Amino acid sequence: MLFGGRSSEHAVSCVTAAGVLGAIDRGKYDVVPIGIAKNGQWVLAGDDLSAWSLKNASLPEVVAGDKTVSLTQFGDARQLVVTEAAKVPQVLGSVDVVFPLLHGPWGEDGTVQGLLELSDTRYVGAGVLASALGMDKHFMKVVFEAAGLTVGPYVAVTDREWTVDPAKVRTRVEVLGFPVFVKPARAGSSMGISKVDSLDQLDAAIAEAREHDLKLVIEAGIVGREIECAVLEGRGSDAPRVSQPGEIAMVDGEHHAFYDFEAKYVQGDAVSLSCPADMPEDDIARVREQAALAFDAVGAEGLSRVDFFYTQAGELIINEINTMPGFTPSSMYPQMWAASGLDYPELIDELLQLALN
Ligand code: DAL
Ligand code: MG
Repeated sequence: MLFGGRSSEHAVSCVTAAGVLGAIDRGKYDVVPIGIAKNGQWVLAGDDLSAWSLKNASLPEVVAGDKTVSLTQFGDARQLVVTEAAKVPQVLGSVDVVFPLLHGPWGEDGTVQGLLELSDTRYVGAGVLASALGMDKHFMKVVFEAAGLTVGPYVAVTDREWTVDPAKVRTRVEVLGFPVFVKPARAGSSMGISKVDSLDQLDAAIAEAREHDLKLVIEAGIVGREIECAVLEGRGSDAPRVSQPGEIAMVDGEHHAFYDFEAKYVQGDAVSLSCPADMPEDDIARVREQAALAFDAVGAEGLSRVDFFYTQAGELIINEINTMPGFTPSSMYPQMWAASGLDYPELIDELLQLALN
């Protein structure tokens, strides 16, 4: 199990890992929990992460230490990673499968997946390209549009465009109309995202997003219900399996302009999650079909959560795909599978078996 990592979603990944470690069948799997500290150091983690929660005063964190898993020593080709003397097995060379429970850049974006490919190690979830596409809110839209899915109006802004001609960027954004959502192109858990109601707020929102990524995606606000759907790779050559769709509804709209980090993880009662979503049968079928299409469009493997807006007119606008969605027992992805007949321990087992077979 790999968790933590260098991204701003480090703490979310720690809580995901705690959930999986608590539920995985320890009679069947011998788990080696490896935390990646924020500085990139690999650390052999303790076995009991049950106290880890996002609701504590301090967020959980893998701390760099002396039980280091070294990335610098090379054994034979499969032993790309040689570990601390004696105590730790030679991780990537000797494990059967890696479960990269990492969110965000340097984990969910194809980089760790590339390392695992290089060391000929099996792993759960999407490969290099699908992970990279799923991380980049711009390129995933390009791929979705090519696959015939409907994406909302947006502009992608590179570092160069903003640095060289900010006035031109402001003009392009004005064409979208307000509100807009300013997002780092490659981040997650709503980190660095702001809702912008007028042009005078735009520069501050851009500065905030650029703290996370110098490439931005600025999206027109869409009025619609937030509907998500969980996808699980099919066995063998079977088509992807899709869950019942779930709905996220804001309960505490007074304190949250949108489904932000606090509403997602910290304040327990800011949103309500329901599954199956209360929608007409035909529309449920469309959500499920389009979620599978999105999964295949980026070439995902293992698991993904696909997020949509469902407008009053019944239109489905795809917001994004997450190739390593939040995976604590109370996260939407496992909840949607639980409501569709696959509970959390079974889901973990299924994902590991997909990777092993
Ligand atoms: N990026 C977070 C973990 C999610 O998609 O659930
Ligand atoms: Mg995301």
